[in-house]
Amino acid sequence: MSIIIAPYTPADRAAVIEGNIDLQETERRLSEFCLPGIDIGELYLDHLLELNRKQHGVILVAKVGEKVVGFISCRIERDESVTTTDDLNTHGYISDAWTHPDFRNKGIFRALNTAAEEYLAQLPEIKIVKLNVLAKNTPAILAYGKAGYRIQELTYAKRIKP
Ligand SMILES: CC(C)(COP(=O)(O)OP(=O)(O)OC[C@H]1O[C@@H](n2cnc3c(N)ncnc32)[C@H](O)[C@@H]1OP(=O)(O)O)[C@@H](O)C(=O)NCCC(=O)NCCS
Repeated sequence: MSIIIAPYTPADRAAVIEGNIDLQETERRLSEFCLPGIDIGELYLDHLLELNRKQHGVILVAKVGEKVVGFISCRIERDESVTTTDDLNTHGYISDAWTHPDFRNKGIFRALNTAAEEYLAQLPEIKIVKLNVLAKNTPAILAYGKAGYRIQELTYAKRIKP
């Protein structure tokens, strides 16, 4: 299977929105805080494109033939912590990774992640890549682990009002 990876173009829009919806529904099954995919699919793509425009980011799209089979988005994020190193504060950030359900476990995420790391590595100030994943998203945790990511911190949430 030959996978071609290239930056997002408007021709990919419908397929990436479908992917956003599927990704969001995956996360909604795992977290009470996620909105329905259908409500955010298009809005979230436009939000990502705007973030990427401002923060040297890109959505990389994987295709097999003409079919969109996955994507990943990455950009520069800047934290202002005075207690951590500069190279952690200004980091590459992977915000979304998705593989079409019919194409999972075929190395598409691995190829997309490698391409995202190569993109971020050519930005002179970027040495470290961070990402967030829901604690219950086992396939994603396993895939990121295989790609060399290690837990750096844990985010907790607790509802204190109904
Ligand atoms: C997580 C996801 C992107 C993985 O994509 P994929 O294309 O199937 O992953 P790959 O085939 O490239 O697998 C990469 C590695 O992770 C492992 N892996 C992937 N899914 C796995 C699973 N469900 N169980 C165990 N291992 C898994 C593979 O075995 C592979 O290991 P290897 O490098 O030793 O061969 C995909 O399952 C997905 O789109 N999930 C829904 C959206 C989502 O949750 N995105 C992440 C949001 S943070």
